[in-house]
Amino acid sequence: MSWKWKTIIEPFKIKSIEPLGFTDYEERKKVLKESEYNLFKIPADKVLIDLLTDSGTAAMSSEQWSGIMRGDESYAGARSFYTFEKVVKDLTGYKEVIPTHQGRAAERILFSIIGGKDKCFIANSHFDTTRANAEATGAQAIDLPVSNAFDFSKPALFKGDMDTVLLEKTIKEKGAKNIPLVILTVTNNSLGGQPVSMNNIKEVSRICRQNKIPLFLDAARFAENVYFIKLCEAGYANKSTVQIAKEMFSYTDGCLMSAKKDALVNIGGFFAMNNTEWAKKAREVEILGEGFPTYGGLAGRDLEAMAQGLKEVLDEEYLKYRIKSVAYLGEGLKRHGIPIIEPPGGHAVYVDAKKFLPQIDSENLPGQALVCALYLEGGIRSCEIGSLMFGKKDPGNGKILPAPMELVRLAVPRRVYTQSHMDYVIEVLGELAKNKNSIQGLKILEMAAYLGHFTARLAPV
Ligand code: F0G
Repeated sequence: MSWKWKTIIEPFKIKSIEPLGFTDYEERKKVLKESEYNLFKIPADKVLIDLLTDSGTAAMSSEQWSGIMRGDESYAGARSFYTFEKVVKDLTGYKEVIPTHQGRAAERILFSIIGGKDKCFIANSHFDTTRANAEATGAQAIDLPVSNAFDFSKPALFKGDMDTVLLEKTIKEKGAKNIPLVILTVTNNSLGGQPVSMNNIKEVSRICRQNKIPLFLDAARFAENVYFIKLCEAGYANKSTVQIAKEMFSYTDGCLMSAKKDALVNIGGFFAMNNTEWAKKAREVEILGEGFPTYGGLAGRDLEAMAQGLKEVLDEEYLKYRIKSVAYLGEGLKRHGIPIIEPPGGHAVYVDAKKFLPQIDSENLPGQALVCALYLEGGIRSCEIGSLMFGKKDPGNGKILPAPMELVRLAVPRRVYTQSHMDYVIEVLGELAKNKNSIQGLKILEMAAYLGHFTARLAPV
């Protein structure tokens, strides 16, 4: 189908709705104080537009809801498992498919089998849970993004690529036998949701095969990555999204997947691979924690919803709308002079809070200050990715050591908000930009040693 119009429309109509949580300024001021300036502690019905994450927040389709009714809840060998397994095998070509309750469960199981002291995992960037699960086995997790990934204000194609020169160098230094796995996170959530090119996947695959190191995709946002390849990489414009996805998987030996993103479900995950030995061990570990390998911590109905979501997500009209609507948010913010990671990512726009609020030092958390101001101004919830999330404490004086970046992620849930919701977000941020000098920094009152940003207590300085 060819679409000749400038306006990109939501390629669906709305069947079931949920009211938004309207609050006024004074109420939000109180809520913010009560939650100690930590938005993870705010009840969701006090949030008007929730851009905290794109994970598990998608709206399911009527076909997915039909799947929920079709779910076979047999403990072992449920029909729904075979339906799901077939969809994953057709898409990825891998031999072994193991469902889990979400992405990090797949990470924990896989790394517990192949990780360990003296081992080293290499990725373009590990997502936090991926890194934490690798490191929990005693292994080292090394990120090798291309250097221009850190050049936030300069747009470039495929800033999610891995630096292949550094990959070869690191393999030589560490020794191939000490590297159980190389991972490409598509798209790269930790650095702006930027896509990885097919060329890079091919080259990383070539290097891995030469060194006999398996290559996996962290495929949480594989379909968004596919669409960037179709849109921006030479030779792919006339290929279908399904063909491109199959080609991406064909260069790899397995994948880890949080289905809460590009399988368009509210809970679920899986890992899949060609290595039958690893799969055998993984199923043994799976039974200990997740459940029998044909349900893996999920209900049969969840497997049906995932199977259907994995097919729907590659619909070209959907992907066009998805990538364009995130870009639309980014363009709107730029019109107000708000610095963002360029170009906008597949699932989120990342505001460069360090640049936006130069009056606030890292120690006073410019990202979190913006997150709070955005909530106070318009009831919009976003997520800090900066010194609150990643900053480490100086063991000497207990002060926060700044993170290399101070970002605010505006993650867009799939099929949930319309263009007018995004216009509202742009308007509120535009208003904040006018008064940005009055935004105040924060100080940390209390913070746990691990993943402290979820529970930290804060106060204005
Ligand atoms: N890999 C990537 C690239 C992710 O973005 C996430 C989750 C995971 C793995 C873990 O999957 O949550 O199903 O256990 N990202 C969410 C986010 C939490 O907000 O970006 P999970």
